[in-house]
Amino acid sequence: MSKFYITTPIYYPSAKPHMGHAYSSIAADMIARFKRIEGCKVSFLTGTDEHGLKIQKAAEANGKDTQSFCDEISKTFVNLTSTLNLSNTDFIRTTEDRHKNTVTELWNLLEKNDQLYLSKYAGWYSVSDEAYYSETEIEDIEGKKVSKTSGSSVEWMEEESFFFKLSEWEKPLLEFYNNNPNFIQPESRRNEVISFVSSGLKDLSVSRTTFKWGIPVPNNSKHIMYVWLDALTNYLSATNYFNNHNEFWPADVHIIGKDILRFHAVYWPAFLMAANLPLPKKVFGHGWILSGEEKMSKSKGNILDPVDLVSKFGSDAIRYYLIKEVIFGLDGKINIDNLMNSINDLGNNIGNLSNRIFTILDKYYGCKVPEVNNNYSVNERLKINKKDFINLINNYELHNYIKNIHAYSSKINKYVNDNEPWNRKINSEQNINNILFSTLNALKNIFILLYPVMPLVSKKFLEHLSISENEINLNLIDKNLIQKKQLSKPDILFKKYE
Ligand code: MSP
Repeated sequence: MSKFYITTPIYYPSAKPHMGHAYSSIAADMIARFKRIEGCKVSFLTGTDEHGLKIQKAAEANGKDTQSFCDEISKTFVNLTSTLNLSNTDFIRTTEDRHKNTVTELWNLLEKNDQLYLSKYAGWYSVSDEAYYSETEIEDIEGKKVSKTSGSSVEWMEEESFFFKLSEWEKPLLEFYNNNPNFIQPESRRNEVISFVSSGLKDLSVSRTTFKWGIPVPNNSKHIMYVWLDALTNYLSATNYFNNHNEFWPADVHIIGKDILRFHAVYWPAFLMAANLPLPKKVFGHGWILSGEEKMSKSKGNILDPVDLVSKFGSDAIRYYLIKEVIFGLDGKINIDNLMNSINDLGNNIGNLSNRIFTILDKYYGCKVPEVNNNYSVNERLKINKKDFINLINNYELHNYIKNIHAYSSKINKYVNDNEPWNRKINSEQNINNILFSTLNALKNIFILLYPVMPLVSKKFLEHLSISENEINLNLIDKNLIQKKQLSKPDILFKKYE
């Protein structure tokens, strides 16, 4: 069985989750579920990034002890699994021992390979981004220094620090990108990274001494490790890499937002190369969920709460809408009216199709699969190729995957309209059986394909065909339902919104 390891970013538990976080997790979940029904053994990791000044300050602002604050907010991210119906196989917190041990191990390897040295850092730092910025990366806005890319304010920082010899990895990184053209996707992001690395890499400060909320540097506990070195290593920690139980590293893909591309596509592979460890196979940087023209974020105060939305519309609807609406890799705007229209479209297209077919089956066939004769073959118009969907997922065209399901379903609707299985004047009994049999199998295929995006409704529909959730598999697409099999009529599959 082939293996597939996919990760989401680990989220800062500085405030409860918003739609941006939900989006990363939903996209990763869709891919994880698809890979499972394709037959892979899947490891799907998410979690929380709990160290660093940003979290320490958030805890202070809430008047809480840092660990208790993390425990509390991290739970709201753990709960996202059931709210959004995620199928993650693990949830990592960077305050766990298994993680601290792995980061310490990685530090030791870097030290052993002569990749670290002690010096002094003097430069700009953004606590909100937990990132160092050079003079050319910041600007003055209304008398305040801010990062040009994120807009968050930066402060001057001077302290003793361990440095990682990032500059040594400029050439190896460029070579690696060149030899692995699909490592960074989409293409536009890859170009950004290559131009950043080509413009020259400076050594990276990887420890701090002015606060304590982090993992101590081995044998020098005056220093704690830079939170991004700590955080990125979570992907390795969860595989038990240094305990010889690793089954999944290297990861097949890290799904991240474009805002954290540099960390994943430059620093992370450099740390791994320097420690002589295998590199992940791909980093996919998706776009932002916008509110109006702006990124949805806590600091901008324009966030939609996924928990609220799920309680109004259900997790399937939110999952479907985000994947359909936002081209994977680009920014996308969302709004509630549009969400309701999308779900109504689903009802009009797929919901009606199911309803029409099951009404006839229920009335005239005792809700059993109709019988077809030996020379039955599925109408060319209704054929579907699962390879097309496999390719779309492998190319990370998540929005086109949904488009394709819609196109297929529209085709089936047209076929039913053209052939009128309810009209006994123009159809022989055998003909009607054939039309219903084909349509029923097409519906089965639609819901198998829809499963990674809308697991609840797909599970429900397929159970009416006596296919249980753990039997859902892409191979069923090429298998017709057993004739005369007893089915049951689903009730309303998609709610209508006014
Ligand atoms: N803790 C770091 C990630 C460490 S990974 C080793 C972090 N956390 S975060 O909570 O600020 O954001 C994590 C991710 O949430 C972003 O990279 C992005 O994937 C997602 N999003 C946050 N806001 C977003 C939008 N408005 N739109 C889409 N996704 C964005 O960065």
